[in-house]
Amino acid sequence: KDIVYRHVSESTQLEAHNLARQGVEHGTIIIANEQTNGRGRLGRKWYSEKGKGIFMSMILRPNFDYEQISLITLLTSIIIFDSLKNVYGITSKIKWPNDIYIDDRKCAGILSEIHGEQDQIHYLIIGIGINTHKTEYPVEIESKAISIEEKIDGSPNRVELITEILNNFELGYERFIELGFTAYFDQYNNLLYGKEKKVIVTNFNRKVIGLIEGVNQNGHLLIKKEDGSVKEVVSGVVEFI
Ligand code: BTN
Repeated sequence: KDIVYRHVSESTQLEAHNLARQGVEHGTIIIANEQTNGRGRLGRKWYSEKGKGIFMSMILRPNFDYEQISLITLLTSIIIFDSLKNVYGITSKIKWPNDIYIDDRKCAGILSEIHGEQDQIHYLIIGIGINTHKTEYPVEIESKAISIEEKIDGSPNRVELITEILNNFELGYERFIELGFTAYFDQYNNLLYGKEKKVIVTNFNRKVIGLIEGVNQNGHLLIKKEDGSVKEVVSGVVEFI
């Protein structure tokens, strides 16, 4: 499979969309050392300083349905957990749906974007941003972000981590195709950050308040409300209160 490398990219996510449109094959990866306009979820920016992180996007051409596809992003967060564990012995947690947390701070994020309609998906881009090296984050995220370097002795080797992630992803993806999310369900729930904690989940103008119970087989978040009922959340932003 092809790996495209850029010293500087506006956004590997953007470049991945362009490559996908040009017809590159399933599994093509684009990696940058720096992004000038890194994008996060919900229109946010992704801080992407030169040499301080892993910024990569994967182009996938899955041939299964829409519901399954959102589960691939949950799978990706498990892959990152496993990779951090295997390479550095770091134990992280997954904040639903797919943020990687270490010590209550975010270390990595995943942005997955589908191109196509419900019944005809052309391609899927999974963007992964990982804070590897210590840096001065902008004030608004400085207390919420953490890098791998802060958790290990020495300096993290990005090539080693990328290799581990890609190898694990390849295996994990095959297993996912064969067995579905069922094969990952328990692990995902075990790694879930903030279980039993009180949260407010916002999805557009709808809000749900309650305790995090876990996810169901569809990867939807289950929130136990004060009246004892359980609300299933398909997508949204989780804030701890
Ligand atoms: C999030 O908001 O948590 C998701 C962040 C995803 C960032 C990655 S870095 C590589 C790829 N290119 C981008 O512009 N964004 C994603």
